Amino acid sequence: TCADWYRAKTDWDVPTERVHSIPDVLKGLEITLQLFAPKGGKVIVPTPAYMPFLMAPERQRRELVQVPMQQKDGRWVYDLDAIDAAFADGGEVLILCNPFNPIGRVMTRDEMLAISEIVDRHGGRVFSDEIHAPIIYESRAHVPYASISEVAAGHTITAIAASKAWNLAGLKCAQIVLSNDADVAIWEEDGGFSGHGASTLGVIASIAAYNTGQDWLDEVIDYLDGNRRLLAEMTAELMPEVKYGMPEGTYLAWLDFKETAVDCDLATFFRETARVALVDGGACGEVGERCARFNFAMPRPMLAQAIEQMATALRAI
Ligand SMILES: Cc1ncc(COP(=O)(O)O)c(C=O)c1O
Repeated sequence: TCADWYRAKTDWDVPTERVHSIPDVLKGLEITLQLFAPKGGKVIVPTPAYMPFLMAPERQRRELVQVPMQQKDGRWVYDLDAIDAAFADGGEVLILCNPFNPIGRVMTRDEMLAISEIVDRHGGRVFSDEIHAPIIYESRAHVPYASISEVAAGHTITAIAASKAWNLAGLKCAQIVLSNDADVAIWEEDGGFSGHGASTLGVIASIAAYNTGQDWLDEVIDYLDGNRRLLAEMTAELMPEVKYGMPEGTYLAWLDFKETAVDCDLATFFRETARVALVDGGACGEVGERCARFNFAMPRPMLAQAIEQMATALRAI
């Protein structure tokens, strides 16, 4: 059903036998580092990043290299020169997150082609985390990184799950997708044991989600679309000094507080003064300092209340 989902929603014709159940996407990253990138080289992570990406390399005795994203005309873009330099300096694996938690970007084919050229030139590998792929807004579409070319397919391990879009994370089931014969051979040798641990209930729920969950998800995305717009409107009105660009995918917002007077940990500040829980951007990498990652997947009245309470807390400084 995962392969069917990719075929239905994207141009990627994934052979079913190349999709394997694993307990979760982070396990997929661990498997990628252990089995498919065994040299022990550095792990390159574009930042701000999903927080565990910054911790996983060290747990696998790897060095982490943070490559900050850049902002061009209010839009986040990859620093291709810095990625190139990181590979030249011992990088082995690049972690891509598309759609991008926490900044909400959905990668374009051209961006991915440029990245794949760099990875290929250095003989590197990509771990493509596509866990948020089912949650993309209107005009954008998900393009799986491994689908863009034979070259990309040759150096990529993809991980996806129904767990974000259909809220199944507790059931422990994700999928790893192989896209070249060499990786299939490695999986056949060692992969079965690595992938052990997906739960039967999770497998059944994922099949149901991928097979029959699209109508429900369309309604959820519609609701989330309303939330991301409400957040834009209320932020502009009540906290105009806070910068926010609407995400193209995911239910996460990246809020920039650099023009406000708050200069302490934003998670502590808003939890204590506004009763709102969010993640301080510093946990997503150095580039995230004085920013915050805010999850807006909640009932709209609650979202409005959260924004009002945050605005009140900022005014009280
Ligand atoms: C980008 C990304 N990858 C991985 C995960 C974790 O997924 P899993 O529970 O399947 O490891 C999350 C959860 O927030 C996520 O946002």
